[in-house]
Amino acid sequence: MRTYRKFGAIMALAIMMVITAACGNSGDSTKTNNGSTTTTTNAQNTNNNNSSSDKKITLGFAQVGAESGWRTANTKSIQESAEAAGFELKFSDAQQKQENQIKAIRSYIQQKVDVIAFSPVVESGWDTVLKEAKDANIPVILVDRAVDSKDESLYLSFIGSDFVEEGRKAGRWLVEQFQDASETINIVELQGTTGSAPANDRKAGFEEIIKENANLQVIASQTGDFTRAKGKEVMQAFLKAHKDIDVLYAHNDDMALGAIQAIEAAGLKPGEDIIIISVDAVKDGMIAASEGKINFIVECNPMLGPQLMEMVKDVVDGVEIPRRVATEEATFTSEEALEALPTRAY
Ligand code: AHR
Repeated sequence: MRTYRKFGAIMALAIMMVITAACGNSGDSTKTNNGSTTTTTNAQNTNNNNSSSDKKITLGFAQVGAESGWRTANTKSIQESAEAAGFELKFSDAQQKQENQIKAIRSYIQQKVDVIAFSPVVESGWDTVLKEAKDANIPVILVDRAVDSKDESLYLSFIGSDFVEEGRKAGRWLVEQFQDASETINIVELQGTTGSAPANDRKAGFEEIIKENANLQVIASQTGDFTRAKGKEVMQAFLKAHKDIDVLYAHNDDMALGAIQAIEAAGLKPGEDIIIISVDAVKDGMIAASEGKINFIVECNPMLGPQLMEMVKDVVDGVEIPRRVATEEATFTSEEALEALPTRAY
C-alpha cells in the first residue's frame, strides 16, 4: 500500500512537471512574423493556446462584395477551402462599402473568432478597427488587397497579387505593340474602385511603363468600380467624348466586358478598332480574348483559399508565417487564351 502511495505521489509530481513545461513552452514559442510583430504574436499565442488539432478553428472573413467574376471565384475558393480544412467560417459580404467591412470585423472581435481575414475594399482608414482586433489578441491576415497602415504590427501577413507588377505587364505589352508608332496613340482607362489597392497600383504600374514612349497618351481615365454595368456606362461616355480612341486599358475583365458592349453598340469592333487590355483572366474574359475581342489579359489569381487556410492553421499552431505571400500569375494573348480555356478552372 505504502509503495502504491509513493508511486502515486511520484506520478503526480511527474505529471505536474510535464504540464508546467508544456505551459512554459507555449508561452515562449513566439511567432516572429519576420521579427516585426512580436507583441501581437505573443498575445495571439496567449489567446489561441489551443493547437489547431484540439478544437474547431473559427475564421471570420470580411469579403469586399460580389462586384466581379473574380470576386465570385475568390469567395468560392475561400468557402470551399474553409470547409475542406474543417474550419467554422463566419463570412460577410460588404457590398463594396468600407463601413460594412468595419462592422463585420467588429462583430468577429465580439464573437472572439480565432483569426480574422479580410480583403480591404480601400487602402486607407483601417487603423482603428485593426487596433481593436490587436487589443483583443485576434490575429489579422490581409487577403487579396493591402492596407496603407504605417503600423505593421496591426496585421500578421498579406497574401495576394503584386498589383503594380500587373499594371507593368499591361504597359509592357502595349509599349511593344506600338514601338514603331509615329503618331499619338489615344488610350482610355477604366479604373477599379476608387481608393482600392488594385486601382491605385494597376494605374501606377501601367503609367510607369508607358511613359517610355511619348506617343502613348492616356486621354481619359475614370472609375468603373470593377463592375460590368459601370464599365459599359463609362465607356459609352468615353466614346461620346472622344472620336479617336485607339486603346482601352481596363483594370479588370468585367469592366472590359461592359465596355465591349458599349463599343459594339457604337458600331465598332472591339479588339480591332479599339485594342483592349484587361486584368484578371476569369472565364468570361478569357472567352472574349479567345474571340479576339480582348487583345491581352494580365492574370490575377483569385484562388487564395487554400493558402489562407494553411496560414490560419499555422497561426493557431504558433508556427512562424511569412509576412508576405505573393501569388504567381501569367499573361494571355488571344491565341494563348484560346489554348488555355479548356482547362481554365474559373
Ligand atoms: O482585388 C482584386 C480585384 O477586385 C480584381 O481584379 C477585380 O476583378 C476585383 O473586383
